[in-house]
Amino acid sequence: MNIRVARPEDLMNTQHCNLMCLPENYQMNILMVFLFRYYFFHALSWPQLSYVAEDDKGNVVGYVLAKMEEESEDDPHGHITSLAVKRSYRRLGLAQKLMDQTARAMIECFNAKFVSLHVRVSNRAALNLYQNSLKFSTVDVEPKYYADGEDAYAMKRDLVAFAKENNIDPADKDSFFTSKKEDEKRKRH
Ligand SMILES: CC(C)(COP(=O)(O)OP(=O)(O)OC[C@H]1O[C@@H](n2cnc3c(N)ncnc32)[C@H](O)[C@@H]1OP(=O)(O)O)[C@@H](O)C(=O)NCCC(=O)NCCS
Repeated sequence: MNIRVARPEDLMNTQHCNLMCLPENYQMNILMVFLFRYYFFHALSWPQLSYVAEDDKGNVVGYVLAKMEEESEDDPHGHITSLAVKRSYRRLGLAQKLMDQTARAMIECFNAKFVSLHVRVSNRAALNLYQNSLKFSTVDVEPKYYADGEDAYAMKRDLVAFAKENNIDPADKDSFFTSKKEDEKRKRH
């Protein structure tokens, strides 16, 4: 099993994986058009942040799609748009590896101090992964976040702690290891 950066030609494969894995029951045609545009936008804007897992024959069996949140006053941070692993390849640690890989790239390329995501309150597998394996914490509950009316947990993972634990070099050390306020103060002097 191999984890690598997603390439434009993976688009069709990741779409297939998404359709097979995600619980949402959309109308297929609308979804295909939407996904194609959405994936293309991610691939063009943040090519460093999306990864695929492939089997020994090069078939895509899992992916993570991620982006940077750019319209925010907050510290630089990333967002996980979508994550899925094909059924027969689950519980092998692939999701954890994909998520760690994108977290590393967010730090190294964009100085991201945290990463956020939304997850269905009923998604026990994903919640276990995020809370127990990846140390995300729940920051909010967003009522009726999903089209079918289900609530979402808004979650965050501290990437400064992750960088320290794993000796990852951020894009800009000075601002990464200080708070935004301290950094602004430092720049004024
Ligand atoms: C959630 C999902 C991505 C996990 O992928 P995965 O590759 O199987 O996850 P990993 O093997 O990296 O799991 C790491 C840990 O997460 C937790 N976990 C994963 N799947 C779990 C499950 N079905 N039940 C309970 N805990 C689970 C476990 O703690 C696991 O560690 P362990 O296997 O040592 O016990 C996968 O189940 C999936 O694609 N689900 C459908 C799509 C989806 O829900 N995406 C998330 C949307 S926010």
